[in-house]
Amino acid sequence: MKLLVINGPNLNLLGIREPSIYGQEDYAALVRLIHETGNQENVAIEIFQSNHEGAIVDAIQNALHDCDGIIINPAAYTHTSIAILDALKAVGLPCVEVHISDVKSRETFRQISYAGMACIKTFMGLGLDGYRQAILFLKQYLLSH
Ligand code: DQA
Repeated sequence: MKLLVINGPNLNLLGIREPSIYGQEDYAALVRLIHETGNQENVAIEIFQSNHEGAIVDAIQNALHDCDGIIINPAAYTHTSIAILDALKAVGLPCVEVHISDVKSRETFRQISYAGMACIKTFMGLGLDGYRQAILFLKQYLLSH
């Protein structure tokens, strides 16, 4: 089983970026957590981060013949990108959405998630642990479908 984890714009600045919202841990710590979880669960994991919408669309398309599922935190593109929604729908892989912060309790402009419309589940407000929970959830989903 292989999963692709995609992180959108500004997530590479974790630890520096608004720590009161996104926490003190940096992007390298997130990458370590994801790989540790993959190793524990016997799941191969590829991680991709980009600040560019089209690069994220390309990564989703490239997962089609290579991955069994996608975990995505599209960051700000969550709330704007129909291109990412369409790419997720086009490949048709099971997809789980993650947000580090509790988006529901934030600004009005964050209340729509386009990518979420193509996802089977969303984890939000759990900090970096949301990624670990998303991996466990998607593994179980893939084993039972
Ligand atoms: C985020 C929430 C988004 O609204 C924001 O634009 C981000 C990060 C999160 O992980 O909480 O960049 O996706």
